[in-house]
Amino acid sequence: MRKTAFVTGSAKRIGSAISEYLASSGWEVVLHYNHSRDDAAHLSEKLKQLYPDRLFPIFQCDLSVSDAVLSVFNRLPEGIEKIDALINNASIFDPGKIDETSLGFLRKQMMVNFEAPFLLMQAFKNHFGEGSVVNLLDTKIVKNEGTHAAYLLAKKNLAELTRMAALDFSPVIRVNGVAPGPVLPPPRKSSDYLKDVVEKTPLKKQVDVNDIAFSVYFLLNNPSVTGQVIFCDSGSHLV
Ligand SMILES: NC(=O)c1ccc[n+]([C@@H]2O[C@H](COP(=O)([O-])OP(=O)(O)OC[C@H]3O[C@@H](n4cnc5c(N)ncnc54)[C@H](OP(=O)(O)O)[C@@H]3O)[C@@H](O)[C@H]2O)c1
Repeated sequence: MRKTAFVTGSAKRIGSAISEYLASSGWEVVLHYNHSRDDAAHLSEKLKQLYPDRLFPIFQCDLSVSDAVLSVFNRLPEGIEKIDALINNASIFDPGKIDETSLGFLRKQMMVNFEAPFLLMQAFKNHFGEGSVVNLLDTKIVKNEGTHAAYLLAKKNLAELTRMAALDFSPVIRVNGVAPGPVLPPPRKSSDYLKDVVEKTPLKKQVDVNDIAFSVYFLLNNPSVTGQVIFCDSGSHLV
Protein backbone atom coordinates (compact mmCIF):
# COMPACT_ATOMS: atom_id res chain seq x y z
CA MET A 1 0.00 0.00 0.00
CA ARG A 2 1.18 3.52 -0.82
CA LYS A 3 2.67 5.45 2.11
CA THR A 4 3.06 9.20 2.37
CA ALA A 5 5.61 11.19 4.37
CA PHE A 6 5.41 14.88 5.26
CA VAL A 7 8.95 16.29 5.45
CA THR A 8 9.38 19.81 6.85
CA GLY A 9 12.15 21.96 5.37
CA SER A 10 12.49 19.53 2.47
CA ALA A 11 13.69 21.87 -0.27
CA LYS A 12 17.41 21.73 0.46
CA ARG A 13 20.25 20.09 2.33
CA ILE A 14 19.29 17.36 4.87
CA GLY A 15 15.55 17.68 4.21
CA SER A 16 15.94 17.13 0.47
CA ALA A 17 18.26 14.15 1.08
CA ILE A 18 15.65 12.57 3.40
CA SER A 19 12.90 13.22 0.84
CA GLU A 20 14.92 11.72 -2.01
CA TYR A 21 15.84 8.69 0.08
CA LEU A 22 12.23 8.04 1.08
CA ALA A 23 11.07 8.50 -2.51
CA SER A 24 13.69 6.00 -3.69
CA SER A 25 12.31 3.50 -1.17
CA GLY A 26 8.73 3.72 -2.40
CA TRP A 27 7.29 6.59 -0.35
CA GLU A 28 5.21 9.46 -1.58
CA VAL A 29 6.45 12.75 -0.06
CA VAL A 30 4.77 16.08 0.68
CA LEU A 31 7.64 18.54 0.25
CA HIS A 32 7.20 21.30 2.81
CA TYR A 33 9.11 24.59 2.41
CA ASN A 34 8.95 28.16 3.66
CA HIS A 35 11.00 30.49 1.42
CA SER A 36 12.66 27.98 -0.94
CA ARG A 37 9.82 27.54 -3.41
CA ASP A 38 12.04 27.12 -6.48
CA ASP A 39 14.19 24.45 -4.83
CA ALA A 40 11.10 22.60 -3.61
CA ALA A 41 9.50 22.77 -7.07
CA HIS A 42 12.72 21.56 -8.69
CA LEU A 43 12.93 18.60 -6.29
CA SER A 44 9.26 17.80 -6.89
CA GLU A 45 9.80 17.74 -10.69
CA LYS A 46 12.88 15.54 -10.33
CA LEU A 47 11.01 13.02 -8.15
CA LYS A 48 7.94 13.02 -10.42
CA GLN A 49 10.15 12.16 -13.39
CA LEU A 50 11.86 9.34 -11.48
CA TYR A 51 8.66 7.94 -9.94
CA PRO A 52 5.77 9.01 -12.18
CA ASP A 53 3.20 6.82 -10.44
CA ARG A 54 3.52 8.74 -7.14
CA LEU A 55 2.75 12.25 -5.85
CA PHE A 56 5.40 14.74 -4.68
CA PRO A 57 3.45 17.96 -4.06
CA ILE A 58 5.08 21.04 -2.57
CA PHE A 59 3.52 22.73 0.44
CA GLN A 60 4.30 26.16 1.89
CA CYS A 61 4.01 27.00 5.58
CA ASP A 62 5.87 29.42 7.83
CA LEU A 63 6.50 27.35 10.95
CA SER A 64 7.00 30.49 13.04
CA VAL A 65 3.27 31.27 12.69
CA SER A 66 1.30 29.06 15.07
CA ASP A 67 -2.10 29.43 13.32
CA ALA A 68 -0.53 28.33 10.04
CA VAL A 69 1.07 25.32 11.74
CA LEU A 70 -2.18 24.31 13.44
CA SER A 71 -4.05 24.13 10.12
CA VAL A 72 -1.42 22.20 8.12
CA PHE A 73 -3.27 18.89 7.96
CA ASN A 74 -6.59 20.63 7.13
CA ARG A 75 -5.19 21.93 3.86
CA LEU A 76 -3.13 19.08 2.44
CA PRO A 77 -2.41 19.17 -1.32
CA GLU A 78 -4.91 17.59 -3.72
CA GLY A 79 -4.67 13.82 -3.86
CA ILE A 80 -3.11 13.48 -0.40
CA GLU A 81 -5.62 12.21 2.10
CA LYS A 82 -3.45 10.61 4.74
CA ILE A 83 0.04 11.17 6.12
CA ASP A 84 1.77 8.04 7.41
CA ALA A 85 5.00 9.66 8.59
CA LEU A 86 5.84 13.12 9.88
CA ILE A 87 9.50 14.14 9.65
CA ASN A 88 10.22 17.29 11.68
CA ASN A 89 13.40 18.45 9.95
CA ALA A 90 13.02 22.24 9.46
CA SER A 91 14.94 24.40 11.88
CA ILE A 92 16.66 27.71 12.47
CA PHE A 93 20.16 27.79 13.92
CA ASP A 94 21.01 31.27 15.14
CA PRO A 95 23.88 32.06 17.51
CA GLY A 96 23.41 33.76 20.88
CA LYS A 97 24.56 33.13 24.43
CA ILE A 98 22.03 33.26 27.28
CA ASP A 99 22.86 36.85 28.23
CA GLU A 100 22.49 37.94 24.58
CA THR A 101 19.10 36.25 24.05
CA SER A 102 16.11 38.60 23.92
CA LEU A 103 12.61 37.33 24.59
CA GLY A 104 11.66 37.74 20.90
CA PHE A 105 14.74 35.80 19.77
CA LEU A 106 14.07 33.04 22.32
CA ARG A 107 10.45 32.75 21.21
CA LYS A 108 11.34 32.52 17.51
CA GLN A 109 13.92 29.76 18.12
CA MET A 110 11.49 27.89 20.37
CA MET A 111 8.61 28.30 17.91
CA VAL A 112 10.35 26.90 14.84
CA ASN A 113 12.56 24.33 16.60
CA PHE A 114 10.21 23.07 19.32
CA GLU A 115 6.65 24.42 19.27
CA ALA A 116 6.02 23.78 15.56
CA PRO A 117 7.16 20.13 15.83
CA PHE A 118 5.03 19.84 19.01
CA LEU A 119 1.92 21.20 17.27
CA LEU A 120 2.51 19.10 14.15
CA MET A 121 2.91 15.93 16.24
CA GLN A 122 -0.30 16.73 18.13
CA ALA A 123 -2.18 17.42 14.87
CA PHE A 124 -0.71 14.27 13.29
CA LYS A 125 -2.04 12.19 16.20
CA ASN A 126 -5.47 13.85 16.13
CA HIS A 127 -5.91 13.72 12.34
CA PHE A 128 -4.48 10.36 11.37
CA GLY A 129 -4.31 8.40 14.63
CA GLU A 130 -1.53 6.07 13.48
CA GLY A 131 1.90 6.14 11.83
CA SER A 132 5.36 7.30 12.72
CA VAL A 133 7.19 10.51 13.64
CA VAL A 134 10.91 11.23 13.34
CA ASN A 135 12.32 14.41 14.89
CA LEU A 136 15.65 15.81 13.75
CA LEU A 137 17.60 16.70 16.88
CA ASP A 138 21.30 17.53 17.31
CA THR A 139 24.23 15.62 18.81
CA LYS A 140 24.72 18.58 21.16
CA ILE A 141 21.55 17.76 23.14
CA VAL A 142 23.79 15.79 25.52
CA LYS A 143 26.04 18.83 26.08
CA ASN A 144 25.60 22.32 27.49
CA GLU A 145 27.49 24.52 25.04
CA GLY A 146 26.06 28.03 25.23
CA THR A 147 26.91 29.48 21.81
CA HIS A 148 23.43 28.73 20.36
CA ALA A 149 21.59 28.64 23.69
CA ALA A 150 18.01 29.10 22.49
CA TYR A 151 18.44 26.66 19.58
CA LEU A 152 19.99 24.02 21.84
CA LEU A 153 17.35 24.42 24.55
CA ALA A 154 14.66 23.95 21.90
CA LYS A 155 16.34 20.77 20.63
CA LYS A 156 16.75 19.44 24.20
CA ASN A 157 13.01 19.97 24.69
CA LEU A 158 12.29 18.24 21.41
CA ALA A 159 14.37 15.24 22.55
CA GLU A 160 12.31 15.02 25.75
CA LEU A 161 9.09 15.41 23.76
CA THR A 162 10.24 12.56 21.49
CA ARG A 163 10.43 10.19 24.46
CA MET A 164 7.28 11.49 26.15
CA ALA A 165 5.21 11.27 22.96
CA ALA A 166 6.62 7.80 22.19
CA LEU A 167 5.01 6.60 25.41
CA ASP A 168 1.88 8.73 25.15
CA PHE A 169 1.16 7.87 21.49
CA SER A 170 1.83 4.13 21.90
CA PRO A 171 0.68 1.73 20.59
CA VAL A 172 -0.61 3.59 17.53
CA ILE A 173 2.19 6.04 16.69
CA ARG A 174 5.94 5.46 17.03
CA VAL A 175 8.07 8.53 17.78
CA ASN A 176 11.84 8.56 17.33
CA GLY A 177 14.68 10.98 16.76
CA VAL A 178 17.88 11.35 14.77
CA ALA A 179 20.63 13.48 16.31
CA PRO A 180 23.04 14.56 13.57
CA GLY A 181 26.63 15.59 14.15
CA PRO A 182 28.55 17.71 11.63
CA VAL A 183 26.77 17.17 8.30
CA LEU A 184 26.80 20.52 6.50
CA PRO A 185 28.08 23.94 7.50
CA PRO A 186 25.28 26.42 8.22
CA PRO A 187 24.02 28.16 5.06
CA ARG A 188 26.44 30.92 3.96
CA LYS A 189 29.39 29.41 5.93
CA SER A 190 32.30 27.81 4.06
CA SER A 191 33.25 24.13 4.38
CA ASP A 192 36.18 25.25 6.62
CA TYR A 193 33.54 25.91 9.30
CA LEU A 194 33.25 22.16 9.91
CA LYS A 195 36.95 21.19 9.65
CA ASP A 196 37.78 21.55 13.35
CA VAL A 197 34.51 20.01 14.46
CA VAL A 198 35.00 16.98 12.21
CA GLU A 199 38.61 16.56 13.41
CA LYS A 200 37.34 16.34 17.01
CA THR A 201 34.83 13.55 16.27
CA PRO A 202 35.98 10.04 17.24
CA LEU A 203 35.48 8.81 13.67
CA LYS A 204 37.15 11.95 12.21
CA LYS A 205 34.53 11.94 9.52
CA GLN A 206 32.00 14.45 8.28
CA VAL A 207 28.53 12.87 8.46
CA ASP A 208 27.09 12.09 5.03
CA VAL A 209 23.55 13.45 4.43
CA ASN A 210 22.59 10.01 3.17
CA ASP A 211 23.59 8.47 6.51
CA ILE A 212 21.06 10.80 8.16
CA ALA A 213 18.45 9.86 5.56
CA PHE A 214 19.20 6.17 6.11
CA SER A 215 18.71 6.61 9.90
CA VAL A 216 15.29 8.18 9.28
CA TYR A 217 14.43 5.34 6.89
CA PHE A 218 15.55 2.74 9.47
CA LEU A 219 13.36 4.27 12.18
CA LEU A 220 10.34 4.47 9.89
CA ASN A 221 10.73 0.85 8.90
CA ASN A 222 11.40 -0.79 12.26
CA PRO A 223 8.05 -1.52 13.91
CA SER A 224 9.65 -2.53 17.24
CA VAL A 225 11.43 0.77 17.92
CA THR A 226 9.93 3.80 19.65
CA GLY A 227 11.35 6.53 21.91
CA GLN A 228 14.79 5.97 20.41
CA VAL A 229 17.32 8.61 19.38
CA ILE A 230 19.98 7.58 16.87
CA PHE A 231 23.13 9.68 17.20
CA CYS A 232 24.33 9.79 13.59
CA ASP A 233 27.29 11.97 14.48
CA SER A 234 30.65 10.22 13.92
CA GLY A 235 30.64 9.56 17.68
CA SER A 236 30.51 13.24 18.76
CA HIS A 237 28.12 12.59 21.65
CA LEU A 238 30.76 10.36 23.29
CA VAL A 239 33.35 13.10 23.81
N1 LIG B 1 23.54 20.69 9.18
C1 LIG B 1 24.06 20.01 10.19
O1 LIG B 1 25.26 19.66 10.17
C2 LIG B 1 23.20 19.64 11.38
C3 LIG B 1 23.81 19.29 12.57
C4 LIG B 1 23.03 18.96 13.67
C5 LIG B 1 21.64 18.97 13.56
N2 LIG B 1 21.06 19.30 12.38
C6 LIG B 1 19.58 19.29 12.31
O2 LIG B 1 19.17 18.62 11.13
C7 LIG B 1 18.04 19.29 10.54
C8 LIG B 1 18.35 19.72 9.11
O3 LIG B 1 19.53 20.51 9.13
P1 LIG B 1 19.87 21.50 7.91
O4 LIG B 1 21.21 22.05 8.21
O5 LIG B 1 19.61 20.81 6.60
O6 LIG B 1 18.76 22.62 8.15
P2 LIG B 1 18.69 24.10 7.51
O7 LIG B 1 19.25 24.06 6.14
O8 LIG B 1 19.29 25.08 8.46
O9 LIG B 1 17.12 24.35 7.51
C9 LIG B 1 16.24 23.46 6.84
C10 LIG B 1 15.02 24.21 6.38
O10 LIG B 1 14.28 24.69 7.49
C11 LIG B 1 13.33 25.57 6.93
N3 LIG B 1 12.86 26.59 7.86
C12 LIG B 1 13.56 27.48 8.60
N4 LIG B 1 12.74 28.36 9.21
C13 LIG B 1 11.47 27.99 8.85
C14 LIG B 1 10.19 28.53 9.11
N5 LIG B 1 10.00 29.63 9.87
N6 LIG B 1 9.12 27.91 8.56
C15 LIG B 1 9.28 26.83 7.78
N7 LIG B 1 10.47 26.29 7.46
C16 LIG B 1 11.54 26.88 7.99
C17 LIG B 1 14.00 26.26 5.75
O11 LIG B 1 13.09 26.19 4.67
P3 LIG B 1 13.10 27.27 3.44
O12 LIG B 1 14.50 27.20 2.88
O13 LIG B 1 12.07 26.74 2.52
O14 LIG B 1 12.77 28.62 4.01
C18 LIG B 1 15.29 25.46 5.56
O15 LIG B 1 15.56 25.14 4.20
C19 LIG B 1 17.72 20.46 11.47
O16 LIG B 1 16.69 20.10 12.36
C20 LIG B 1 19.03 20.70 12.22
O17 LIG B 1 18.84 21.27 13.49
C21 LIG B 1 21.81 19.65 11.29
